[in-house]
Amino acid sequence: MQTFQAIMKIWRGQFLAAAVIALFLTGCNKPSSAPGVGGDTIKVGEFASMTGSEATFGQSSHKGTALAIDDLNAAGGVLGKKFELLMEDDQSQAGQPATVVRKLISRDGVVAILGEVASSRSLEAAPICQQNKIPMISPSSTNPKVTEAGDYIFRVCFIDPFQGTVMANFALHTLHLKNVAVLTDVKSDYSLGLAKFFKEGFIAGGGKIIAEQNYSGGDKDFNAQLTSLKSSKPDGIFVPGYYTEAGLIALQAKQLGINVPLFGGDGWESSSLVPIGGAALEGDYFSTHYSPEDTSPAVQDFVKKFKAKYKETPDAMAALGYDSAMILAAAMKSAGTTDGAKVRDALAAVKDFSGVTGKITMDANRNASKPAVILTIKNGEFKYVETISP
Ligand code: PHE
Repeated sequence: MQTFQAIMKIWRGQFLAAAVIALFLTGCNKPSSAPGVGGDTIKVGEFASMTGSEATFGQSSHKGTALAIDDLNAAGGVLGKKFELLMEDDQSQAGQPATVVRKLISRDGVVAILGEVASSRSLEAAPICQQNKIPMISPSSTNPKVTEAGDYIFRVCFIDPFQGTVMANFALHTLHLKNVAVLTDVKSDYSLGLAKFFKEGFIAGGGKIIAEQNYSGGDKDFNAQLTSLKSSKPDGIFVPGYYTEAGLIALQAKQLGINVPLFGGDGWESSSLVPIGGAALEGDYFSTHYSPEDTSPAVQDFVKKFKAKYKETPDAMAALGYDSAMILAAAMKSAGTTDGAKVRDALAAVKDFSGVTGKITMDANRNASKPAVILTIKNGEFKYVETISP
């Protein structure tokens, strides 16, 4: 009998514990409010590569995004509520964006998603946002396919058909190159797209692509590809990849005695590029979205605020992260609600929004048409060269 009572007691105890846990879990799982109604804050999700091979991308864009949320909240938020930014690290790894974005939507009940920097990771998350009717704004993914995922997917940056053409014209008319080699990361949608658009533009302008080689993001040794490219005697090498590999490629190219300029796109922009590539990068070029040297009050204001908060100079991803959050807030304000479909309509109607990275107007395909900036590496620093308008 005693044993029976003891068992009953334990069982009751377990039952109670289970009930408490169940209650707690339901409470946690349920979004604190249906989108647009109730709730103390407006929950905005962000997914970013805070760690891994593109860690500086996520860290920069997150800093910019968080600064915008601070600014918005200091001004009272929108619709009478403050913003709450819920950020998830996708570790620069394929597979993670889908997992963390699902979590943000179903567990946390966010009403919008900001991210990602890298096109492949935005492409992974976009269909999930689209299915759930949650507006997604990529700060800086430039591959055209990203916004083709559906009418809830936006970006505040230019796209690679433009960026590729800009670099093709720069190679032809400023660097006076005629025979260019291309070294592409076949694991990255960004790299594949930018390589394609560059080649089309360069050939259309009368240039010749004399050699092409591939690598996979994460590779460390590029000697085989570079040796092969060297033998075709290019007068420049286009490297449409991310900074970790671009830095190593520059370094190994110099070691092989390749002394022609290397140039790439926005994927080069990182505070880690020069620490990786060192002096081998001197005189190389890349295109990006903004320069902190821009003397416009919008840029200088932003640089000042950013430096005060983080003690560092903001790069393009930080500026675009800031703009992505500001545009979302403006769309919610003009929609008068956080309801997904209405915010989507307001985002689609964004016109002449004054961002840090310039005037932002959403075109019919939910892309922003904006100028590109070309930077060079001089004495280990990024220096402004020129701005090219669409
Ligand atoms: N445009 C790159 C992509 O689509 C990401 C990037 C943006 C990198 C801005 C650096 C600066 O993958």
